[in-house]
Amino acid sequence: MKFGVLGTGIVGRTLATKLAECNHEVMLGTRDVTTTLARTQLDVWSNLPFHEWKEQHSEIQLGTFAQTAAHGEILLNATAGNVSLEVLQTMSIDDLNGKTLIDTANPLDFSHGFPPSLSFHG
Ligand SMILES: NC(=O)c1ccc[n+]([C@@H]2O[C@H](COP(=O)([O-])OP(=O)(O)OC[C@H]3O[C@@H](n4cnc5c(N)ncnc54)[C@H](OP(=O)(O)O)[C@@H]3O)[C@@H](O)[C@H]2O)c1
Repeated sequence: MKFGVLGTGIVGRTLATKLAECNHEVMLGTRDVTTTLARTQLDVWSNLPFHEWKEQHSEIQLGTFAQTAAHGEILLNATAGNVSLEVLQTMSIDDLNGKTLIDTANPLDFSHGFPPSLSFHG
């Protein structure tokens, strides 16, 4: 089955890795493929720079968020929760219509340090 995993952080990487191990065709989505592959620093959580991780997972494709939405028969959202709606709104309705979207995102606010609070209040 074709899965589109939106998000290149540790959650997206972990989900994509397991799905690929289960022989699914997985694409991981990002804002800009060239920029993401060019990252050379550990991220804020000390995860490997993306291109190093990608070298170890050559079976997982990397595309833009829009390409990933088009690829996936099932989609998983693993983007930063405070921008998830913004990201989803960049996609074509035709690429989302009728598809299941599994949402892992939390709208966390790290602006006051750790631990974060929720950025939306009911
Ligand atoms: N980390 C955990 O242990 C954990 C556990 C449960 C749930 N969650 C939730 O799962 C989600 C993913 O967490 P994560 O730690 O893997 O990654 P993250 O750092 O929260 O999000 C990374 C993804 O968000 C995208 N992004 C960030 N800012 C953006 C912006 N301004 N516009 C568009 N896209 C933007 C990044 O795009 P690029 O690829 O272009 O950089 C990247 O793909 C979060 O909502 C988090 O709350 C996390």
